[in-house]
Amino acid sequence: MIQSKVILITGGAGFIGSHACLVLLEAGYRLIVLDNFSNSSSESLRRVQELAGAEAASRLVVVEGDIRSADDLSRAFRAGVETAGSEVQTTCPVDAVVHFAGLKAVGESIADPLAYWEVNVAGSLQLLSAMRAHGCRTIVFSSSATVYGIPEQVPIPETAPVRPINPYGQTKAAVEQLLADLAASEPCWRIARLRYFNPVGAHPSGRLGEDPQGTPNNLFPFVSQVAVGRRESLQVYGGDWPTPDGSGVRDYIHVMDLAEGHLAALETLLSEEPQLLTANLGSGQGHSVLEVVAAFAQASGRPVPYQLVNRRAGDAACSLADPAFAASRLGWRTQRSLDEMCRDGWAWQQANPKGYSS
Ligand code: NAD
Ligand code: UFG
Repeated sequence: MIQSKVILITGGAGFIGSHACLVLLEAGYRLIVLDNFSNSSSESLRRVQELAGAEAASRLVVVEGDIRSADDLSRAFRAGVETAGSEVQTTCPVDAVVHFAGLKAVGESIADPLAYWEVNVAGSLQLLSAMRAHGCRTIVFSSSATVYGIPEQVPIPETAPVRPINPYGQTKAAVEQLLADLAASEPCWRIARLRYFNPVGAHPSGRLGEDPQGTPNNLFPFVSQVAVGRRESLQVYGGDWPTPDGSGVRDYIHVMDLAEGHLAALETLLSEEPQLLTANLGSGQGHSVLEVVAAFAQASGRPVPYQLVNRRAGDAACSLADPAFAASRLGWRTQRSLDEMCRDGWAWQQANPKGYSS
């Protein structure tokens, strides 16, 4: 019997991780999710199993635990031995790790940098040590366009300087550096550092989506909560940016495109010689805040009232990926439009007005 590869997914219950779990299950992988549910609920994984169907659902094992705990990591790696089955015992029960677990709110990182360095950096260190101890040297890491800081050049190529301007970005840059140091010290590592632009939208079924706790910091969840009537109106941060309509421009990427980008990166690493690769995951297409507001109002059939207010500290006028490297090396490019991001985001918001606790 051919055993499918076993992938450990940290943070797999979260927004991006849950969509990636579904895509990887559909591609035939066995998954172990390690999550402490600090920003998610096990309901997302239950729905991943429901969408994947009974056979694929049996290939997903959930371990509740923390990436900062060596014991929890050991339990997750031992779960790898169990899922690999008793017929074939390999020396490397977990073939690869996709590492989503982390904290991601810029404002919170400024208020509590210790928490961000502890979870994002110390947690990643602990994970990498556990990987080495268990003979696993393949990792896909969730980095962010935030490592570029205020870009000098748009679209931004991967060769642009890494100059984060907040503690969250510093922690992502630090883990990127740690991964580069590891690759240089032991050339058998297979590492992908994926720099996401602005992930939004939801699975088209409306069963999986983003479930922010408290007031959303990001544009998309805020707009959808205004459309569904949970919030009165949106504040548009700045109408005087040097952009065509004066509002900020970003490279929004459908979360299903992003999930497929992880599959492409993983398969590249598993099928090629050991390497360190760094790829932007974005579309290269920019949309302004006012375009997003109009597209969401159109998709939902609901008004999205807004006021123009002052710029938000730390924002850039425009952030766009140069997606050429991902296209040429991973054979991956985005497929879904802003209208699909709004349509699917709205289907999720409408069916789950209070997220997974609806
Ligand atoms: P999310 O908060 O929805 O998911 C993160 C998951 O990690 C959650 O399920 C959370 O419970 C879990 N987690 C947090 N700390 C943990 C710990 N110590 N041990 C185990 N599990 C832990 O976030 P997301 O939007 O899905 O982001 C996933 C990754 O992508 C993060 O590393 C984030 O920094 C990165 N990223 C996100 C965005 C974005 O806009 N969403 C953009 C760029 C990069
Ligand atoms: N915006 C508003 N009103 C809001 C929220 C946002 O006008 O209530 C504007 C922002 O000023 C910006 C655009 O909408 O012009 C997008 O803002 P987001 O907060 O949604 O996204 P950012 O580009 O600021 O940052 C996000 C994550 C970062 C990550 C980056 C790239 O918050 O952590 O995408 O992946 F690094």
